Amino acid sequence: MKDFVIEFLICPSCLPEEYSLHERIKHRDGNDIISGELLCPNCRKVFPICDGVALLNITPEQIPLPGNKYETPQSLSSYLWGHYGNLMGEEEHIDAYQTWVDVVDESRGLALDIGCAVGRFSLEMSTKSDMVVGIDLSLLFIKTARKIAKEGSLKAKLFEEGLIAREQEFSLPSSWHPEKVEFIVADALNLPFKSGVASQVSSLNVIDKVPSPLRHIKEMDRVSRKSGAQCLISDPFSWSPEASPVDEWLGGKENGAFSGYGIENIIKILNSRETFLFPPWRIIYRGHVWWKLRNHRNHFELIRSLFIKAAR
Ligand SMILES: C[S@@+](CC[C@H](N)C(=O)[O-])C[C@H]1O[C@@H](n2cnc3c(N)ncnc32)[C@H](O)[C@@H]1O
Repeated sequence: MKDFVIEFLICPSCLPEEYSLHERIKHRDGNDIISGELLCPNCRKVFPICDGVALLNITPEQIPLPGNKYETPQSLSSYLWGHYGNLMGEEEHIDAYQTWVDVVDESRGLALDIGCAVGRFSLEMSTKSDMVVGIDLSLLFIKTARKIAKEGSLKAKLFEEGLIAREQEFSLPSSWHPEKVEFIVADALNLPFKSGVASQVSSLNVIDKVPSPLRHIKEMDRVSRKSGAQCLISDPFSWSPEASPVDEWLGGKENGAFSGYGIENIIKILNSRETFLFPPWRIIYRGHVWWKLRNHRNHFELIRSLFIKAAR
């Protein structure tokens, strides 16, 4: 984990109280801490840094999470293709990430990409922000994203059919700045960041994947600056009881709290004066992208992801 991240970190287990973490470094490579620990002075919890990856989930001993569908080679193949297909020269690729990056204004300070998967948006955001941290619960995704950032390239294993796979190499464009980007394992619902540190926060296709979408939004709001902040939220709103109980959905219901469509409810949550978030966010722009994943050479998923950019 690069040194620049430390000043922003707090213990995720002690939230809503915020305690800075103490570092105990065993091995470093320049500004990169390769192994060591981060300790909470309050609850005494120890968060390990192994092979450069900081495990800042509240249960670091459980990582990788058993049964996490984002820890398989097939899932890695789908996401590497989805994120870097254009850099691989893949014909069927759709460039959703470029559209998302284009709606974000350049800003000073820290950008957080929550649920970053294999890191495409975080890495491209290095053209817009001084520092970027990508956060995900998948250890496999975070290790891969770190490798791409460190080496500037990757030989991806892309599944073609069954167990048949091909290797496809890609390199990052020279205009990106991977040295400004870090990736950590952490939970979107308990972000290990101090309040008000981020000038830009994003959640791309994550809202409908977490057990409590409202808590995810509140955490994004907490870590964002009170003024001079941008927020990008995009989602297909594929609500499912496997990801979160129906009571927690922020849309996709005929009756009760948060009935109606998810995108409209999220807009209300962001800019409502009475309720959840303070100060409220102004909606600057809304649109959609076509987002595509490739499971194998004959199986693609085409997803319409609705996005809003907000600021305050
Ligand atoms: C549908 S993918 C979207 C990935 C990426 N943002 C994109 O748009 O390509 C959802 C991602 O969220 C991550 N995720 C799911 N639950 C999470 C949580 N509680 N905290 C952090 N990441 C989470 C998954 O590991 C996965 O990488």
